[in-house]
Amino acid sequence: MEILGIDIGGSGIKGALVNAETGEMLTERFRIPTPKSKKPKDMAKVVAEIVDHFNYKGPVGCGFPSIVKNGICKSPGNLDPSWVGVNIDELFTEYTGQEFTVLNDADAAGYASMNYGVGKGKDGLVIMITIGTGLGSGAFYNGILIPNFELGQIPYKKHKKIEKWAAASAKEKEDLGFKKWGKRFNKFLKLVELIVCPDLIIVGGGTSKKWEEFSHHIKIETNVVKAELMNHAGIIGAAVSCLREQHHGHLH
Ligand code: BGC
Repeated sequence: MEILGIDIGGSGIKGALVNAETGEMLTERFRIPTPKSKKPKDMAKVVAEIVDHFNYKGPVGCGFPSIVKNGICKSPGNLDPSWVGVNIDELFTEYTGQEFTVLNDADAAGYASMNYGVGKGKDGLVIMITIGTGLGSGAFYNGILIPNFELGQIPYKKHKKIEKWAAASAKEKEDLGFKKWGKRFNKFLKLVELIVCPDLIIVGGGTSKKWEEFSHHIKIETNVVKAELMNHAGIIGAAVSCLREQHHGHLH
């Protein structure tokens, strides 16, 4: 079944049609920058533009950059604080006329990797980390999603959350090279290792495209690999999880 997958990020909103049975992307990715206000209505308009671009009618799977519980936004992430409490499913349905299944963006990316990527068949605790405006994390135990892990929220030094110091946005803001930033990212992974003791860490998100530039700075004991679906994982995972939810009423 062909399903529209949308991946909402702090800097871009991206969509593509996906074969939700095979996890294959069927079209080019279409991207519109996230509106500067990062407010619900402005972002819902962009989501509607994406749906229109594909002339799409049907269920939509959507990764969203905050804690999402039963379709409701529970934390601001890097968006406008007015998102907290908004029923994202309902808002996007109102703007597009289509039915939405919304989940955390890193959970969606992890979902794709666990079903079609390097995480396939991997038991134990697998942690997906996405590097973008924030640091997203998705946790899977024996292949089953434990939703809304928020490892990027660990306080670090003077920062309220470590993602302010170690995400791609910090690299950009402070104009850091891959060496300096790579060491910060390694520090973050070290804390993740210390706190949750994973069996495998998969690194995805926009910056994972530059894997060769920073992977040699990763020096932790846990096996750390690149998500080979890279920044498409969020779109694919959103579409696939949407189909599963339609069939089972919950994610597996
Ligand atoms: C949010 C997470 C999200 C991550 C990546 C963080 O700021 O708290 O929920 O997954 O950014 O977008």
